[in-house]
Amino acid sequence: MSEKEIIVVEGNNVLSGEVRVSGAKNSALKLIAASLLGQGASTLHNVPLISDIVVMSEVLECLGATVERDGHTMVIDTAQVTSRETPYELVSKMRASISVLGPLVARFGQARVAMPGGCQIGARKIDMHLVGLEALGVEFTVDHGYLNAHTPNGLHGADVTLEFPSVGATENCLMAAVTAHGTTCIENAAREPEIVDLANMLNAMGGKVSGAGSSIIQVEGVPLESLHPCEHTTVGDRIEAGTFLVGGALTGGPVTVRGIDPSYLHMAIMKLRAMGCCVEAGEDWITCSRNQPLQPTDIQTLPHPGFPTDLQAQFMLLCSLAHGTSMVTENVFENRFMFASELARMGADITIEDHHALVRGVNDLQGTDVSSTDLRAGAALVLAGIVAEGETRVHNIKHIDRGYEDYVGKLDLLGADIERVT
Ligand code: UD1
Repeated sequence: MSEKEIIVVEGNNVLSGEVRVSGAKNSALKLIAASLLGQGASTLHNVPLISDIVVMSEVLECLGATVERDGHTMVIDTAQVTSRETPYELVSKMRASISVLGPLVARFGQARVAMPGGCQIGARKIDMHLVGLEALGVEFTVDHGYLNAHTPNGLHGADVTLEFPSVGATENCLMAAVTAHGTTCIENAAREPEIVDLANMLNAMGGKVSGAGSSIIQVEGVPLESLHPCEHTTVGDRIEAGTFLVGGALTGGPVTVRGIDPSYLHMAIMKLRAMGCCVEAGEDWITCSRNQPLQPTDIQTLPHPGFPTDLQAQFMLLCSLAHGTSMVTENVFENRFMFASELARMGADITIEDHHALVRGVNDLQGTDVSSTDLRAGAALVLAGIVAEGETRVHNIKHIDRGYEDYVGKLDLLGADIERVT
């Protein structure tokens, strides 16, 4: 993709129809890392075609794995992995690269991983990853921007209480605990559906994980030799689904998303209904439509099952067109309101005070040049362009490609007047 490529979208449009969501980015990334524990060829289905997955494949290749891809299926052979080092070049492109830390120490007793960069949405420290892994027997040193992990006395089960239900820290501890000697109990664990997906894959490889999806995860350590490769299908992407549902809510719809378990979006669906939308759902689909004015609401992001921070920008957009004033509070990341100033350039009325955004509804937005500040903000700006007056040109779209498979194609299918232009 050229750095100059932009998305051009014509406004005053209505989205309607059906889209199939891809596999969850935040799941697939960790499932690829977990394949290190299988020591052979694991097959993953429903892997999204997005650039973050390309980076994660490169991380695995860099360690010595072979990765073959056929559409949405990926075969990762980790039998010949010899390196334990993940270079800065890859970790700086994507913070989730550090999720190889847990599996590497579980398999080799050591790892060397560049300190992470990633999305510019706050400090995003890794202290909780380290505290959790230390409890399991990992010792860390830092040199030249790299984190070195060693397990001088092997990994042992432990009680790990996380200060905050961090997704990444839960996953790293979980993957390391799979081969630890004895039982590990992770308390205040993250409860995201992607954690459950990871636990299911680890169990399919011979791990003994229970309680995933609740705040207490138990892992009975098994010998590394007893783990084996597996075949696993990635869960649907709830954030992609939520993004298209917001498209239905914004324009009236109806928009139907398929390939998603509605229970993953319980809180988002409640908020859509509170805002005056009609939401219907079946076993693996959700439809959103609206035939009355958007009502204001208050939203607070929280760890799952609370309202997801990854849908905050999309809902801030909805609030900006509601008939009244809404309050959006960001509790998960410390600097995730950059989107507001881009949306303000389109005519939104948003005042930021610390981690609160006061959003006064306006009658309409106007198309202009805007820039994706991160992945979800980029997706929301494109949606804003679909309802704005005139043409919107969204720049810096590499962020969107990190996490949305064929976003333009899927929106086109729903009736958007949209194209990528170099
Ligand atoms: C994951 C998701 C991301 C989502 C986030 C919260 C992936 C690849 N990304 O990110 O899309 O927005 O969960 O649902 O799965 N923190 C610390 N110390 C730590 C770890 C985290 O202070 O050791 C802080 C972070 O700075 C952040 C908060 O805790 O403010 C939540 O982070 P965490 O849940 O770990 O998110 P990620 O796993 O990075």
